[in-house]
Amino acid sequence: CVVYVFYVFYLLFLLLVWYVGVIRTIVLVGHSSERRLCSRCCHCCAAVHLHHQPTECGDRRRGHIHSLLGNNIIICHLFKGKVKIINSRETVPRKVNSDLFKSCRKTTEGWIGVPGEIRGYEAAHRLYGKLPWADLFQPTIKLAREGFPIPYYQGQHIPRINNTSIRELYLDKNGNLLKTGDTVKFEKLADTLETIANEGPDVFYNGTIAKNLISDIQDAGGKLTLEDLASYQANVTDAWNISLGEYKLLILNIMKGYKMNSEPKTTDEKILFYHRYIEALKFANGLKKYIRDPNFSSDKMAKNLIEDSFADSKRSLISSDKTHDPQYYGDTSHMDSIGTTHVSVLAEDGSAVSVTSSINDEFGSRVLSPSTGIILNNQLTDFCNRTNSVSPGERPPSNMAPSVLKSPSKTLVIGGSGSEMIPPAVASALMNHLWFGKSLKEAIITPVVFVDCQSEIKLESKLEKDVVDGLEAKGHKIAKFYNTVNAVEKAGSCISAWSDERKKGKAAGY
Ligand SMILES: *[C@@H]1O[C@H](CO)[C@@H](O)[C@H](O)[C@H]1NC(C)=O
Ligand SMILES: *[C@@H]1O[C@H](CO)[C@@H](O)[C@H](O)[C@H]1NC(C)=O
Ligand SMILES: *[C@@H]1O[C@H](CO)[C@@H](O)[C@H](O)[C@H]1NC(C)=O
Ligand SMILES: *[C@@H]1O[C@H](CO)[C@@H](O)[C@H](O)[C@H]1NC(C)=O
Ligand SMILES: *[C@@H]1O[C@H](CO)[C@@H](O)[C@H](O)[C@H]1NC(C)=O
Ligand SMILES: *[C@@H]1O[C@H](CO)[C@@H](O)[C@H](O)[C@H]1NC(C)=O
Ligand SMILES: *[C@@H]1O[C@H](CO)[C@@H](O)[C@H](O)[C@H]1NC(C)=O
Repeated sequence: CVVYVFYVFYLLFLLLVWYVGVIRTIVLVGHSSERRLCSRCCHCCAAVHLHHQPTECGDRRRGHIHSLLGNNIIICHLFKGKVKIINSRETVPRKVNSDLFKSCRKTTEGWIGVPGEIRGYEAAHRLYGKLPWADLFQPTIKLAREGFPIPYYQGQHIPRINNTSIRELYLDKNGNLLKTGDTVKFEKLADTLETIANEGPDVFYNGTIAKNLISDIQDAGGKLTLEDLASYQANVTDAWNISLGEYKLLILNIMKGYKMNSEPKTTDEKILFYHRYIEALKFANGLKKYIRDPNFSSDKMAKNLIEDSFADSKRSLISSDKTHDPQYYGDTSHMDSIGTTHVSVLAEDGSAVSVTSSINDEFGSRVLSPSTGIILNNQLTDFCNRTNSVSPGERPPSNMAPSVLKSPSKTLVIGGSGSEMIPPAVASALMNHLWFGKSLKEAIITPVVFVDCQSEIKLESKLEKDVVDGLEAKGHKIAKFYNTVNAVEKAGSCISAWSDERKKGKAAGY
């Protein structure tokens, strides 16, 4: 079984994989709680190069994040032919404040990175596009203009924007904040998308939209300049091609040494399995700080992370009876962040796209560009506690793990959302699906563990109490959380897709 893993550079040790750019993002779709709308989203994405019906699409929870079109990482992969990663993550602006990292406060304008998403779609479209550029935007423009009912998860976050400039996007006629189920429209954003659709991507980077956007950002106290936008480039690279038989992925590499061929069944087996997995995640957290943009620093450490010998050395430090102090795993202190959306798409012709995108926290920097309707990202906070100095043009590290796994008979497109929660959740889904033979659905709904920046363990409430007690007995500090994975697979002529119920995701096809 060969897997092509591409690693989007600093994209965590995990599962890197290929990933293709796709247009999904622009796509407000995320928001809709309806299958049909979701399909459209997929169509949009897939259309970059596919022009066919995709079979899956998921995770609408963070739709709001996307709508905002400003930012992102796109990774791309394509099928027949070479696998490509399109990285259009935000970069550090030239005039970045050198003291920025002394105060890692979040959601202030100082953290806005140079948005790359549109350049990423442009690259994807240039490489694989079959539909006219303008067509890709139409479903999203329609959604933005006509509005859609606010989905549950987005609704939960609206009260937090009460005192920000974004508030005006979510007001009803009486000046009250909208709630779950109310219709929200993004008319300004629809205009902006229409301009980009009709005039092409340069209008966003070096035209009227660029001028308006920069002027709005500067008014809000941000540091971006026209030069930053005009010089933005998406980085298109080849994927790392890795054989899954060797599981060259740190967390899985550590776990495979325990030679588990079947799912842990008894309480003791489960406790031991989760304990080891948690220990592997703690080491992974401790290593995050070594992951930097390879265009600015060496990728030697990233390459080392996927070596068997490296995983062996970490595994030998795991005790089966107890956990250790956080220092044991390396300095794990970093800021946990949340946010991201993932879409997995598989098309009729075998093309596959796995895309993760983000403006970082919910509603990003919480700065609205009034003239364009774009909500700005706060992606630079991803550098916080990982480094004290950055270079202009550098991209922050990320937890994103969009992946495509391919064997002669199967294609699996998988990825997750939830920032720090992505690597543990995707690794868990892969172990359960590939090693333990569970269906995608079962693999994804299996309880996941997550280790936060304080080395505290977050467990899902459905995990049996005896297992939780057993983990506590080994010294783990425990709390609760949720995450999301979605995946689509083609095995022979059978296609299956599953989108995490934790965020009310649904698979869709058309
Ligand atoms: C992150 O860094 C800031 C200053 O750079 C520091 O105040 C904060 O305590 C650090 N947070 C963690 C979780 O280490
Ligand atoms: C929202 O902000 C407005 C004014 O800024 C204030 O009057 C109102 O009480 C706030 N609502 C909530 C729920 O905080
Ligand atoms: C917004 O500001 C008002 C008054 O300044 C305050 O009462 C309210 O708690 C704030 N709301 C939020 C969500 O911060
Ligand atoms: C931006 O546009 C101007 C003219 O409108 C052109 O002279 C300049 O070369 C463009 N810059 C970039 C980086 O494309
Ligand atoms: C890579 O870094 C160089 C400067 O070191 C910069 O000029 C170039 O734009 C970067 N490439 C990308 C794709 O960001
Ligand atoms: C990846 O490597 C495998 C075996 O090493 C090879 O058969 C395959 O053609 C390679 N795929 C790509 C896309 O380079
Ligand atoms: C893209 O990033 C790679 C490092 O991953 C670097 O070697 C390459 O020069 C970059 N491409 C461009 C166009 O800057």
